[in-house]
Amino acid sequence: CSVRHYKFDVVMRKTTRLCSTKPIVTVNGQFPGPTLYAREDDNVLVKVVNHVKYNVTIHWHGVRQIRTGWSDGPAYITQCPIQPGQSYVYNFTITGQRGTLLWHAHILWLRATVHGGLVILPKRGVPYPFPKPHKEVVVVLAEWWKSDTEAVINKALQSGSAPNVSDAHTINGHPGPVSHCSTQDGFTLPVQSGKTYLLRIINAALNEELFFKIAGHQLTIVEVDASYVKPVKLDTILIAPGQTTNALITADKNSGKYLVAASPFMDSPIAVDNLTATATLHYSGTLANTPTTLTSPPPQNATAVANKFIKSLRSLNSKTYPAQVPLKVDHKLYFTVGLGINPCPTCTAGNGSRVVASINNVTFVMPTTALLQAHYFNMGGVFTTDFPGNPPHVFNYTGTPSNLQTNNGTKVFRLSYNSTVELVLQDTGIIAPENHPVHLHGFNFFAVGRGLGNYNPKKDSKHFNLIDPVERNTIGVPSGGWVAIRFRADNPGVWFMHCHLEVHTTWGLKMAFLVDNGKGPNQSLLPPPSDLPKC
Ligand code: C2O
Repeated sequence: CSVRHYKFDVVMRKTTRLCSTKPIVTVNGQFPGPTLYAREDDNVLVKVVNHVKYNVTIHWHGVRQIRTGWSDGPAYITQCPIQPGQSYVYNFTITGQRGTLLWHAHILWLRATVHGGLVILPKRGVPYPFPKPHKEVVVVLAEWWKSDTEAVINKALQSGSAPNVSDAHTINGHPGPVSHCSTQDGFTLPVQSGKTYLLRIINAALNEELFFKIAGHQLTIVEVDASYVKPVKLDTILIAPGQTTNALITADKNSGKYLVAASPFMDSPIAVDNLTATATLHYSGTLANTPTTLTSPPPQNATAVANKFIKSLRSLNSKTYPAQVPLKVDHKLYFTVGLGINPCPTCTAGNGSRVVASINNVTFVMPTTALLQAHYFNMGGVFTTDFPGNPPHVFNYTGTPSNLQTNNGTKVFRLSYNSTVELVLQDTGIIAPENHPVHLHGFNFFAVGRGLGNYNPKKDSKHFNLIDPVERNTIGVPSGGWVAIRFRADNPGVWFMHCHLEVHTTWGLKMAFLVDNGKGPNQSLLPPPSDLPKC
């Protein structure tokens, strides 16, 4: 293993998309940002220097950060932000993971433009469990707003209503040819006939789950969220914000140009954003004037296409990469996730009320000191450990919604070291049935079950897959349904869990697990680095 040094200069950069130019916050002036490469077991040091007027933090989404929560990055959860003019060195070791992840800013809505790929190659000399591709290509999907994204969310918060949806989706920074903007070219993926490519697909969008497909070509999924899966061939993949998917594609045509499309899946009914981002798969030797072979993306509400994709994923569960699903469960938790309505006398829309979001009816309130510091230094008054393990009301999907109003609090759920957790995440669908991609920091979990309607512990748990469930760090809780996940709390620290639709995080769909130190050697949180930012 080796040490990898990176420098991330956070700088403003004037960027033109959709015929208009605005300054955006970037890393090293790039959108999307630079791809970070490392190998399994490497020690990675990233010096982040903040040259902009906003506070900044960077999160290494999906990196387990074993004992190094100080480098995880969510603002006010594991660290205070890096203030303008300041810097901080993120220092972590990649342990037991290989595949594609992403990094992104983890404060306010800065992640709209501050994000990039994180590629973890296997240890030197260790092959992939699939045929070696001719080339590897990172494909970052995102969104673009013509206006300033911080202004978009601030305006929404003041009014109490939903923020504007983005003006475009992007593939590697570009929406693709837009008819009224002749200067806009899309991303081109050059291929050679007969060769196989590994696409490392990342959804860095703020608020959109996306379908991804390529005209005339099948995708063989081999890994998701940096965990190998049994190879499965499909023509469309579904990818939620925070999720990553590695897919092989064989250039099995002689020549031609083929459309690559990223289109949204089931927004909340209020946020209708139908735009499809496009790129081009371009065979070498194809004449410039050859027309592009088109493909039609699935309709926005193509739940069947989404379900087909989700159901097809299984852990590889090989001898080398066994699925270590916890079979004995210490904590059975049941969390409702959804939207609510709270009073807001100062809100300018919504008759004195505002949309909020919650887990078990708790709308998480951001502290002003980082939870991890408060925990490590035993500071009182920052958080409480009474996060409910069950909803305060018996949840019934068929009942009339009654508990629309939520409680505010900075509550964590405490777990002892190495305890095992089964967590059922139930969408309440009280205001709007929505698919919530829930992300857990610090762990991978196994997705052992999924269903529609109310979760029924007796009946549904019988059908759990405890053999080869897919391993992930971000999972879509289906609209009006539930998912069951299992994980082992083998990472001491404070770990954020939240909906990766940024608007829902902003509204409070977030909480944290506090995992105590173990008693053995190498089972406690390391001390904070000396340059850890202060609040
Ligand atoms: Cu990718 Cu807490 O985030």
